[in-house]
Amino acid sequence: MARRKKIYEGKAKILYEGPEPGTLVQYFKDDATAFNAEKRAVIEGKGVLNNRLSEYFMTGLNGIGVPTHFIRRLNMREQLVRAVEIIPLEVVVRNIAAGSIAKRLGIDEGTPLPRPIVEFYYKDDALGDPIVAEEHILAFGWASHQDLDDMVALALRVNDFLSGVMMAVNIKLVDFKIEIGRVYDGDYQRLILADEISPDSCRLWDVQTGRKLDKDVFRRDLGDLADAYTEVASRLGLMPKNGHGAHGPKLVN
Ligand code: TMP
Repeated sequence: MARRKKIYEGKAKILYEGPEPGTLVQYFKDDATAFNAEKRAVIEGKGVLNNRLSEYFMTGLNGIGVPTHFIRRLNMREQLVRAVEIIPLEVVVRNIAAGSIAKRLGIDEGTPLPRPIVEFYYKDDALGDPIVAEEHILAFGWASHQDLDDMVALALRVNDFLSGVMMAVNIKLVDFKIEIGRVYDGDYQRLILADEISPDSCRLWDVQTGRKLDKDVFRRDLGDLADAYTEVASRLGLMPKNGHGAHGPKLVN
């Protein structure tokens, strides 16, 4: 069988040429990195969990009219997605202070923010993804005024959706990062959600105990990362109940 063409390899995913023009296959690896890849490990099963979780969130978002690149899951580790032109920005939405904002502005972790805060980081590993202002984005032509409006609106819709989905299973959505891509339909172009939504790119805290159920478990050595992600998947009803598939035959006692 001919080897398929690798388009791009990132820290946690690989993109391959898709079966039709304008599509890509997104493969989820088990690799975990933090602090700009200074810290790395292979967490067995992480890719499978993130593939399933990202499918779940993207499908839900598509269902409420938020456009995403997700087409369908292909297997345990791969999904078919629309090819996009990635905007070189990480869009972060924060509901509660944690991580870099807590450090930068001297706010205690866990302090609720007066309103959701949307931030932009320039995607450049060599520079450590520096935070940038709209001024930089416009001056350097990474996105237009209209794009910025659309990106903020998209990010806030994702925030409302994800906050609700998480709160329903007793998890607080502290913050998250998304990436956005441009697609062309004839003469028109529009922005759609790309990349992934998973506990790699969110902060998720148990409502009662404050237990961290996201990549901070790895960043801060707080325990088993796959256990934390499995807990999220299981609360959302995505884990097989008896190890033979949730819809498989049931044992009769
Ligand atoms: P931060 O507090 O480190 O700036 O992270 C904010 C959110 O963005 C958090 O949910 C983790 C996510 N994130 C990524 O997905 N990728 C990254 O490279 C970084 C730094 C953060």
